[in-house]
Amino acid sequence: MDAPLLVQVAVRRTPAAPPTGAERVRVQRAHARETLGLASDLAGGPAGPWPQEEDGGRPLPLEGWHWSISHDAHLTVGGLARVPVGVDTERIQERRLALAERVLSAEERVLLVHEEPALAFTRAWCAKEAVLKARGIGMAGLSRCRIRAVEPERLLLGLDGEEWRVEQARVDDSVVAVTTAGAKWCLEWSGVAVGPLHASP
Ligand SMILES: CC(C)(COP(=O)(O)OP(=O)(O)OC[C@H]1O[C@@H](n2cnc3c(N)ncnc32)[C@H](O)[C@@H]1OP(=O)(O)O)[C@@H](O)C(=O)NCCC(=O)NCCS
Repeated sequence: MDAPLLVQVAVRRTPAAPPTGAERVRVQRAHARETLGLASDLAGGPAGPWPQEEDGGRPLPLEGWHWSISHDAHLTVGGLARVPVGVDTERIQERRLALAERVLSAEERVLLVHEEPALAFTRAWCAKEAVLKARGIGMAGLSRCRIRAVEPERLLLGLDGEEWRVEQARVDDSVVAVTTAGAKWCLEWSGVAVGPLHASP
């Protein structure tokens, strides 16, 4: 029997940086690539540099390794695998109703009804971003990417006839989401400790 595919993901806290401007973005982007390097070291992957379609664009595989990063003022995340992978992080926060209605269908909102609203929306947003990144299509696929089932630590999503399992965890007040193609895969975390979604930070 084939061993399950391994997705290696590292998470680190973002270093203090100027609160606004290009330097803040530069710090986050560089830190995210170091975080990816940590995951790659553990996976036996390459050291980079990590190629992209254009600056800030879709990641391109390196030596057969697919990779994905996410960065904000709180966390940087880097993940890689032998098949397309997507990672995302989002701070848990309330969003405007209009945004929730744009991103989530009525059916999806019913599936998430037992979740506290800020966490429900953040989980959904983060999961969709991870799937759209794994597919390399970004926002263009948002309306086709739909939540099919909600489990305590994962969401199942559909996109263009494919099913995507998105594993989710919590670090401080942020959600981290990871997905990859196919059904049979396992996930190894490194960097800061990740915990269950519903634990108090
Ligand atoms: C790719 C995308 C998802 C960016 O996500 P983001 O949350 O803004 O930023 P993140 O830090 O999580 O990810 C950025 C990384 O995504 C990667 N990326 C960019 N385009 C990508 C694509 N088409 N496919 C996969 N990954 C992509 C890049 O590596 C980028 O890092 P870099 O700028 O340091 O090179 C993009 O589609 C986007 O613009 N999203 C806007 C946010 C939004 O409205 N999301 C709604 C989802 S519910």
